[in-house]
Amino acid sequence: AKEPDLAGRHVVVSAGGTREPLDPVRFLGNRSSGKQGYALARTAAARGARVTLIAANAALPDPAGVDVVPVGTALELREAVLRASADADAVVMAAAVADFRPAAYATGKIKKKDDQEPEPIALVRNPDILAEISAHRARPGQVVVGFAAETDDVLANGRAKLKRKGCDFLVVNEVGERKTFGAEDNEAVVLGADGGETPIPHGPKEGLADTVWDLVAERLG
Ligand code: C5P
Repeated sequence: AKEPDLAGRHVVVSAGGTREPLDPVRFLGNRSSGKQGYALARTAAARGARVTLIAANAALPDPAGVDVVPVGTALELREAVLRASADADAVVMAAAVADFRPAAYATGKIKKKDDQEPEPIALVRNPDILAEISAHRARPGQVVVGFAAETDDVLANGRAKLKRKGCDFLVVNEVGERKTFGAEDNEAVVLGADGGETPIPHGPKEGLADTVWDLVAERLG
């Protein structure tokens, strides 16, 4: 068992994937299962932290001893993360946040008419929550961690993204047809803003989570 090296700390973890509604029955979403974020919440609690888990559409049981805040959309996730982060020592953004949302929401179900040509769906940009919390740390020394799924040039793209987002660590996954999403195992490299590079071998999502908390705990001192 791990030492309670996060005792007295408040950590915020986002998990799952946002859903951006088109009408009461349809949404734009993604394949994130929430398993990595839930593993992060469980392991942080096991290490003594007070944990707030912002859960976006994850069909998973609430981890014991964790404060779970359910959300649906990216805008809801942003509100919940900002509120919970106000007094947080660390924020880990494991959720898959939609980059865009439909520009309009139809309050009634959108109907197809006979012989109608399909119409394009207009989208607008969602705020980048990770970049925002990194730029405006709610407290000095707050550690911010992001996740990135890349299909090619994993390290180069990861470095560029780490810089763009302004977070302290970026956990970079290589994704492909059968990799990462919904899987029990994960494999990644954690890039540090200080130039550090921590490879995490293929293994359970708990193992990856514990390595992330090792780096966070070390940074918090
Ligand atoms: O840019 P990309 O979506 O690849 O970045 C992934 C990271 O940024 C994840 O940590 C995700 O939670 C976060 N993100 C965010 N707000 C967005 C898009 C992504 O916080 N609108």
